Amino acid sequence: MIDAATATEPTTTARGLRITGAATATPTALPRARSRRPLPRGLTAGLFGVGAALPEREIDNQHFADRLDTSDEWIVRRTGIRTRRWLAEGEPLAPLAAEACVAALADAGRSADEVDHVIVTTITPDRVTPGLAPEVARLIGAHGASAVDVNAACAGFLYGLDQAAALVETGRARVVLVCGAEALSRLTDTEDRGTAVLFGDGAGAVVVAAGELDRGVARFVLGCDPEQGDLLYADNEDRKLRMEGREVYRHAVARMTEATTQALEASGLGVDDLDLFVAHQANSRIIESAANELGVPHEKLAINVDRVANTSSASIPLALAQAERDGLLQPGATVALAAFGAGFVWGAGIVSWKERQYVCA
Ligand code: COA
Repeated sequence: MIDAATATEPTTTARGLRITGAATATPTALPRARSRRPLPRGLTAGLFGVGAALPEREIDNQHFADRLDTSDEWIVRRTGIRTRRWLAEGEPLAPLAAEACVAALADAGRSADEVDHVIVTTITPDRVTPGLAPEVARLIGAHGASAVDVNAACAGFLYGLDQAAALVETGRARVVLVCGAEALSRLTDTEDRGTAVLFGDGAGAVVVAAGELDRGVARFVLGCDPEQGDLLYADNEDRKLRMEGREVYRHAVARMTEATTQALEASGLGVDDLDLFVAHQANSRIIESAANELGVPHEKLAINVDRVANTSSASIPLALAQAERDGLLQPGATVALAAFGAGFVWGAGIVSWKERQYVCA
């Protein structure tokens, strides 16, 4: 909490976000953590709001065609990517993440002081430490909340969502923000045509809370194969993403297909019960291959990789926000989520989309 004596007046950042206190405030008593009672029977964790934020700077495929031995035609044909957004040089990621969180809270009709816990999934925090989550909590004014970063690469959002649901369903938290926020441009080797064209920056967030829901955020299927770690990584020294593209592609399709099949089985559902399949947006061919193997028709695919490229753990919440804007997600829709990333780590889960309008107090 900000000491009233030293707090500055609320300020507005360059991105229009109102910040409610000074970063250098004197330590003082924090708001008491809200009581954490187990949920009454019949309540489950659900998704109640979504928000998205992208940097201003657009980098189209011609940017790379002008500098590398590549072309817009190759990038679109092999990846589906047409453009992406990158933060400006030196621009922090936290305000972008905060903007997505503020939008998600507004969409859910909740205020920042109701948030018990903030999970930010990222592989590109602004500083080595502290993580992004405490700064995001400060920027949005969630002064009573706990906050933690989760690094599970491109699968991070699903790991974060699974943790949020567990916290809500055990009564350890009432309202949890899960925000995927990434600045992959910082880890991109702009000289390497094999990877330079693939990545983008962005942030997406959802509000997880309890409701009387049929499905909510059902149990997720999560997995890990550390034997494959060297196929996709960024080292401390080099700080650039390196990968064996073809191998990563093969594993991504296989694992997302397998995990989604298991998640459907665990939920007692078939593919025909799905209204939408939202897979990690790395490459439209990967998404389409996984969908083909699962038997999901093209009209039930969420695809926004053409507009934002691969934004790692931000990709699923960004795709959810886009799908809703495009009219592909109605309240009560049954949605399969699937993601895969460095580790290898992966996950899939079946969720219902804004199944109820209200959040339990
Ligand atoms: N422009 C033009 N040519 C390119 C290129 C580019 N940007 N990038 C690679 N190539 C070339 C390669 O050098 C290769 O040339 P060669 O046949 O002369 O050796 C050729 O295109 C085919 O390369 P390949 O790697 O087989 O292409 P691909 O169809 O597998 O597509 C990826 C490459 C990276 C787009 C694809 O493998 C992919 O999307 N992989 C997964 C990426 C991913 O999801 N990463 C993160 C996971 S979370």
